[in-house]
Amino acid sequence: MSLALSKSADTPARTNWSAYATAYDLLSEHNPAYQALLSEFEGFLKTIEAPALIYDIGGGTGNYTEIAARICPESEIKLVEPDVGMLGVAKAKLSARDNVEYDSSTLEDFDAPGTADLIVCVHALYAMPSQGKRLKDLRRLLRPGGLLYLVDLGRYMNVADWRSYLFAHLKKEHGLLGALRIFWQGREIAKQNKSILEAQKKGVYWTHTEAEIASAVTEAGFDIIKQDSVYRDYSDLLVCRAVP
Ligand SMILES: C[S@@+](CC[C@H](N)C(=O)[O-])C[C@H]1O[C@@H](n2cnc3c(N)ncnc32)[C@H](O)[C@@H]1O
Repeated sequence: MSLALSKSADTPARTNWSAYATAYDLLSEHNPAYQALLSEFEGFLKTIEAPALIYDIGGGTGNYTEIAARICPESEIKLVEPDVGMLGVAKAKLSARDNVEYDSSTLEDFDAPGTADLIVCVHALYAMPSQGKRLKDLRRLLRPGGLLYLVDLGRYMNVADWRSYLFAHLKKEHGLLGALRIFWQGREIAKQNKSILEAQKKGVYWTHTEAEIASAVTEAGFDIIKQDSVYRDYSDLLVCRAVP
């Protein structure tokens, strides 16, 4: 779907992220594709100069903020997450970290204290209204030359494909009964994934090819340093630099 199509759908029904929140980390812990994304982010952070200010936009339950807080203990990190359920899980998880602050705004309403050296935005942009405008918000929130670490779900969420992928992995690791138990505990995820697929099909959520997201970030004022198809080819990872 094109960027232009998604722009017309500014006020649609959205995923119930709070319902997602309690089960989110359970399945994320057991999802090798999600864990691979976290490892890639950790590797990336180790290659860059420690950023003074980091924003984690749509930071959810705080898994990326947790890595940033650990790898960059001197950085000031702001987790921006509008859903109270997700934010509550993040706050509990990160309570021992004294370099993390929280903001319950959406990206579009975020009143930033300054321009960041690094913005992390993972699997959140597709769920926001008007991605072109949101990418420009991200550009505005970065200092010139600052980095955007962007991962976005671009392709249709094939619920059956994810179910069989996760089930095969869980069965190997925990046996049939263990896999069934974890699936039962994480059943809310399957429900919300279905709602994501419906929102994608209706054009409420943005879907994109690698070329479409590349052109959208370029148009918003970024140079692409690196781009990969990730998360079993459902998502795109882009490391971008804010054009001065
Ligand atoms: C799938 S979760 C991803 C969470 C986290 N980044 C991760 O990868 O684990 C998507 C998050 O985007 C947030 N979100 C949705 N619309 C948003 C908006 N307009 N501004 C900021 N965050 C938003 C949701 O509340 C949700 O927590």
